[in-house]
Amino acid sequence: MRARKARLPDANAIHGLIRSLSYDGTLLPRSFAEIYENIRDFTVAETDEGEFLGCGALHLYGPHLAEIRSIAVSEKSKKQGAGGCLVEALLEEAESHCVPCVCLFTRIPGFFQRFGFVQVDRTALPDKIYKDCANCPRLNACDEFAMARGTLPDTAVLGPVRVEEHLVPLQI
Ligand SMILES: CC(C)(COP(=O)(O)OP(=O)(O)OC[C@H]1O[C@@H](n2cnc3c(N)ncnc32)[C@H](O)[C@@H]1OP(=O)(O)O)[C@@H](O)C(=O)NCCC(=O)NCCS
Repeated sequence: MRARKARLPDANAIHGLIRSLSYDGTLLPRSFAEIYENIRDFTVAETDEGEFLGCGALHLYGPHLAEIRSIAVSEKSKKQGAGGCLVEALLEEAESHCVPCVCLFTRIPGFFQRFGFVQVDRTALPDKIYKDCANCPRLNACDEFAMARGTLPDTAVLGPVRVEEHLVPLQI
């Protein structure tokens, strides 16, 4: 078994697996367009023969924070180490970018504790709140645990839109 960076031909398998786990809210749904656009965020786990086992993604907010997202293993391949292999690969990737804090939101904190993640108050992760939570219908009824590993960020790059930063005159 190995983990490697995803390539565009993996998008079909990634989309199918995420879709199968998004009906009940286990994972956030991802359209093909989102997966294509963010394919460089994804890592896949596969057998030595190249059979797809699962996927996960690392979203970089900036030098202060990254997030593990969309981590999943196909039903028939569970409990063989693929999930752990993906988490380790994504943590290594975050380390290669010198990011001191990796966060994630999950309903299964027990799985991530073994990798050093601890539960944190979600308000410690304002970038995550502005990126996803602010537009989520479950904002005030969220059943996910916020977790982080490393030094919590003391800065954020996302936030309320400041008009002077976004109204750039068009150069036609
Ligand atoms: C969570 C998931 C990725 C684990 O993948 P996996 O390949 O089975 O994981 P591994 O084989 O590396 O590790 C298995 C270990 O994780 C533990 N584990 C699996 N699911 C768990 C859970 N819900 N809570 C706590 N521990 C869990 C297993 O008990 C097993 O422990 P053991 O090694 O002591 O027996 C997989 O179950 C999955 O795809 N789940 C659905 C999607 C999901 O919930 N993703 C997380 C979204 S944040």
